[in-house]
Amino acid sequence: MMLLGTQTVGPDGRLRVGGCDAVELAESFGTPLYVLDEAQLRANCRAYRQALESVAARSQVMYAGKALLTTAVASLVASEGLGIDVASGGELATALAGGVEPGRLLLHGNCKSETEMRLALNRHVGRVVVDSLPELDQWQRLATELDTRAPVLIRVNPNVKPKTHTAISVGQIDSKFGLGISAGAAIEAARKALALDRIDFLGVHFHIGSQVLGWQAFAAAAEEAADFVRTVRDELGATVDQVILGGGLGIRYLPEHDPPAIAEFVPKVVSALLARLRAHDLPEPLVLLEPGRSIVGEAGLTLYRIGVVKDIPGVRTYVSVDGGLSDNPRPEMYGAEYHVFLANKADQPAETVVTVAGKHCETDTLFRDVALADPRPGDILAVQSTGAYNYAMASNYNRLPRPAMVLVADGQAELIVRRETYEDLLKCDLMPQRLNGVHGS
Ligand code: LLP
Repeated sequence: MMLLGTQTVGPDGRLRVGGCDAVELAESFGTPLYVLDEAQLRANCRAYRQALESVAARSQVMYAGKALLTTAVASLVASEGLGIDVASGGELATALAGGVEPGRLLLHGNCKSETEMRLALNRHVGRVVVDSLPELDQWQRLATELDTRAPVLIRVNPNVKPKTHTAISVGQIDSKFGLGISAGAAIEAARKALALDRIDFLGVHFHIGSQVLGWQAFAAAAEEAADFVRTVRDELGATVDQVILGGGLGIRYLPEHDPPAIAEFVPKVVSALLARLRAHDLPEPLVLLEPGRSIVGEAGLTLYRIGVVKDIPGVRTYVSVDGGLSDNPRPEMYGAEYHVFLANKADQPAETVVTVAGKHCETDTLFRDVALADPRPGDILAVQSTGAYNYAMASNYNRLPRPAMVLVADGQAELIVRRETYEDLLKCDLMPQRLNGVHGS
């Protein structure tokens, strides 16, 4: 069995996390329940900072909030000295509500709305990453209107394809993201940014993909970025002060996954960048990283209650749980696999092979052919590594209220997201007067 972070199995055979009994958490807070291991989350933040500070003279880790963002998560990550990368006005508003200093925020997006851009300028967000040429004109216009300046980095496309699911591979030429280096779009953007008087051209950014289980593709992209920094100097006579190397380091979803440790990954990628810059006789820039999944992924688990066990003789046994693709769309979207076990029988041999399904009116297969310890209705199913892109991508499909999330540490469990109610589900519905009335009588 794969235990992560502070997880242990108690003498009673039950899973413990952050010093809390997982079965008691399920009973007190209900299921499905997202559980976040604070010590693990903080340890990952520290590992990133230490690794980056050990190799770069000037550095900043920016947590990619798209992986998981609530006000408490924003505050926690910021308390570890990380900035936050936000990908929408909603993420920006969440980070601000979490008390994060605006200068520590960075706004992303390939199709930013004017509302999002105005919010970023009005609140003096520290960095914005530009993804297209027309976007530069928008920043210039809005910054002029608001009598301020836009702190801009250009997202370049290094044309590197990492090994991962095609849906989350974004560094190749055929991608909606970034401005191609080889196609000349990136240098065009830098020239334009330097020419616009309301834009401060700070540097370059790339992000090649997510859940990547090696460092080589990142190092190759970093070298491409360094070559681009040289082109900026040679062609435009300008200095690139900051380089953001994106996120993308993979995590362990299954025991056989073996991603590089943060302490190994960061120096490999950053030194590839710095060595290439030195070779071009360029000064060392401020180096930023934008990890999301590798900060929160393994720090989160989901607890479900088993409702139904249905055996189809000679075919398979279906175990249905009280959540599904609304709290974890990743199996359906990416064929993602997870390590699962019964939190109330964690010491028993997992010998019954079943397929776990969610409760949605869809196939909603969550975990195919997994071995559990004689699963019965009422048992608590624990799913590892659900901290990233689960709550963040949750929906209300079938009008299921989204689950609660608890933060656990030192035997204490505190709600950081309360469970949605039916009232919450109804709060945006409006009834035109002419439809109002009692029907069906
Ligand atoms: N920076 C940028 C510009 C990004 O687009 C992303 C992720 C990150 C950083 C953080 O990447 P990470 O360290 O988390 O791999 N929903 C998908 C993942 C989408 C990733 C989108 N961009 C999933 O569930 O696998």
